[in-house]
Amino acid sequence: MESKNFGYFDDKNREFVITNPATPFPWINYLGNEDFFGLISNTGGGYDFYKDAKFRRITRYRYNGVPMDNGGRYFYINDNGTVWNPGWKPCKTPLDSYECRHGMNYTRITGSKNGIEASVLFFVPLKTWAEIQKVTLKNTTSEKKTIKLFSFAEWCLWNAATDMENFQRNWSTGEVEIDGATIYHKTEYKERRNHYAYYTVTNANIDGYDTDRESFIGLYNEFADPQCVMAGKPSNSLAHGWSPIASHYIEVELAPGESKDYIFMLGYVENAQEEKFSAEDIERKKNGTLISSQDSDVTLVNKAKANALIEKFSTVEAVDAAFAELAQMWDALLDKYVVKSDDERLNRMVNIWSQYQCMITFNFSRSASFFESGVGRGMGFRDSNQDLVGFVHQIPSRARERIIDIASTQFPDGGCYHQYQPLTKHGNNDIGGGFNDDPCWLIFGTVAYIKETGDFSILQEPVPFDNEPGTEVSLMEHLRISFNHVVENLGPHMLPLIGRADWNDCLNLNCFSWDPNESFQTTENNSEGSKAESLMIAGLFVVTGKDYVELCKQIGDNAEAERAQKCIDSMVEAVKKHGWDGEWYLRAYDFYGNKIGSNECEEGKIFIESQGFCTMAGIGLEEGMVDKAIDSCKKYLDCEHGMVLNNPAYTTYHVEMGEISSYPAGYKENAGIFCHNNPWVIIGETVAGRGNDAWELFRKISPMYLKDQALHKVEPYVNCQMVAGKDAAKPGEGKNSWLTGTAAWMWLTVSQYLLGIKPTYDGLMIDPCLDSDIKEYSVKRILRGTEYDITVKNPNGNQKGVKSITVDGVAIEGNIIKATPGKHVVEVVM
Ligand code: BGC
Ligand code: NOJ
Repeated sequence: MESKNFGYFDDKNREFVITNPATPFPWINYLGNEDFFGLISNTGGGYDFYKDAKFRRITRYRYNGVPMDNGGRYFYINDNGTVWNPGWKPCKTPLDSYECRHGMNYTRITGSKNGIEASVLFFVPLKTWAEIQKVTLKNTTSEKKTIKLFSFAEWCLWNAATDMENFQRNWSTGEVEIDGATIYHKTEYKERRNHYAYYTVTNANIDGYDTDRESFIGLYNEFADPQCVMAGKPSNSLAHGWSPIASHYIEVELAPGESKDYIFMLGYVENAQEEKFSAEDIERKKNGTLISSQDSDVTLVNKAKANALIEKFSTVEAVDAAFAELAQMWDALLDKYVVKSDDERLNRMVNIWSQYQCMITFNFSRSASFFESGVGRGMGFRDSNQDLVGFVHQIPSRARERIIDIASTQFPDGGCYHQYQPLTKHGNNDIGGGFNDDPCWLIFGTVAYIKETGDFSILQEPVPFDNEPGTEVSLMEHLRISFNHVVENLGPHMLPLIGRADWNDCLNLNCFSWDPNESFQTTENNSEGSKAESLMIAGLFVVTGKDYVELCKQIGDNAEAERAQKCIDSMVEAVKKHGWDGEWYLRAYDFYGNKIGSNECEEGKIFIESQGFCTMAGIGLEEGMVDKAIDSCKKYLDCEHGMVLNNPAYTTYHVEMGEISSYPAGYKENAGIFCHNNPWVIIGETVAGRGNDAWELFRKISPMYLKDQALHKVEPYVNCQMVAGKDAAKPGEGKNSWLTGTAAWMWLTVSQYLLGIKPTYDGLMIDPCLDSDIKEYSVKRILRGTEYDITVKNPNGNQKGVKSITVDGVAIEGNIIKATPGKHVVEVVM
């Protein structure tokens, strides 16, 4: 364990422990891993949603609030007039102790004050549409204590976008029911919605409640001093419109040393049309056991499903068992790749946090974080393909389903929707397509899936175009048209046309926008006759094209493999001829055919993306291009915190380049350290056998090696998308944490290219690239049910090159270990 100013890692429990609630930014975690999700900050902020952060938002969140991160799951304790929260916020009453433990899909926040210790465990049980909050209250004094506990959640009116804009309607629609300890949120349920939410205490009676925000908080009060909490008395309010909330009130008596558990549960239910309403409840409403803000009796919600779940989790034992199941799931997920080395930071990253972040990005794509509002973006085509490469070894069946979903949004010409909505799985028409790197990523994702699982049958899956029934062709055909989409869209230098943008969403070479109300992403004022070409796509095409060729050979289609290889060879030639600037690869040709990312340019002379992908592709390796490009990256892009995206940064707006030149120098795509593409260069370095360089950059980008948590600002346990670059006001300051392709790429880099354990069609390839200081490590890898216990020895401090391999004591030729059932001991000497 290592102590730092705001927190430290507890590796044994796979937790990051925050010891000071006033972190430099809210440090969050994610609850749930399949349908029901929550975001939770270290002070209890955040919200829940079901599947889609926009269309099924369950609790409300205020973005850009003052102070930051207000609203969330709050427990208030009124101890004889002293009012406090276990998570410090919102009251911010100084606590006697505070700790927040962010673990694998759970968070435990514990605070104490005046002899009361309050601990809340937040998690979503597996296969359950509800968040459990297990509250443990303990009297640590030698006297009897009587305290008042209030819970608090604020309902979102389902659509997170209209919830924050359409108040002429919203403030009249809110409806609730109260049934014992359960508060139901049923806005719009009587008409078109088939879902409601509820917040309950499963194992205790309550002594009061509130469902109307204004009655509970008071119009002139704040989250920090709700009038009911301050007065120590609920108002038993019934919401009619305005802002419905759910708050329980419980009077708690604790003998000296006594502790009590209360199980709160916040859930979501869907009912079929014919089962929506409850006739039985009409009587209960008449005799007052049920309270409803609805005028009509016939629309009381059918509570059967909620009641069943409440019953299921009505004991501490049941909750503890569900929590243990969650832990077991993570034990199994994190058992597929385990490294043991004498670098505890490396172990921590590989064995815990990198894999955890990959699960989160797989689930959320770029939708919901404290930087992504959850209302703007669905699942990205390229993003999801990259994410699944970091996740496929965890639950291959979910990766399989995802590949089919993604491919189903492709168009017959190989182009594809840039995004799709998780609820409908349909392409997003507002954004459309035209990002010419997108198709290549489908090959990237599919190949990774087959190499992990050996499941070639996915290639025969019928997959439609644009989700149109009747248009199905095999997934393999989708891969073919993906490959062809590049080949059929070449520009004057025989390099790939960029379209709206390539991986870099902000390199908008056909946009030409002078209107701030236009979207850089979708505007094409100058698309006709565009000649803008991308070297990033060229490199990506060669990397994924080689994968495609290998796949064709695997399935015995040698003619197609040969055809494809020719296209790749031509692309390599085109890059060498028109894409090499002398010391590095060019980035692009603009609309007019002018160079971008050339020494001839005044700003933006060199870009990271084309260096990353063209070196990864090994283009011009023999001619020394790979080494030269890496040297140039080190010379012009590198700094203390990693490599910036481009250099020199743009200082003025270039209409012919678009959004990239809109950012101030040093931020985001304009010379920020875009963590996502640093691993590309690391992999390029491994292609050139430059282990020391590769590990140096790796340690700059992995948050495990962070030196200054305060400067980094965002969570020190996961990668963020961007760290401010050397031209920024505060180099080293991180932004946009959690949802970034960096997660999958860092995983791929460390697991396959640095530690060098790579799934192939036949088994496992062992090809490490090491820092000369690394003398030995071992990896346990479970692939397709076979366990490999691999020890790598590097007595001479080499950077690359396997000398010998024995499998179960027998020496093998080459560096591929055939996949055979059972358990194998593998010894590798470098
Ligand atoms: C950001 C990009 C992002 C894009 C998505 C831009 O403003 O800088 O990182 O990919 O928006 O639409
Ligand atoms: C974030 C987007 O999600 C991703 O698709 C894109 O490649 C990068 N930004 C770079 O622009």
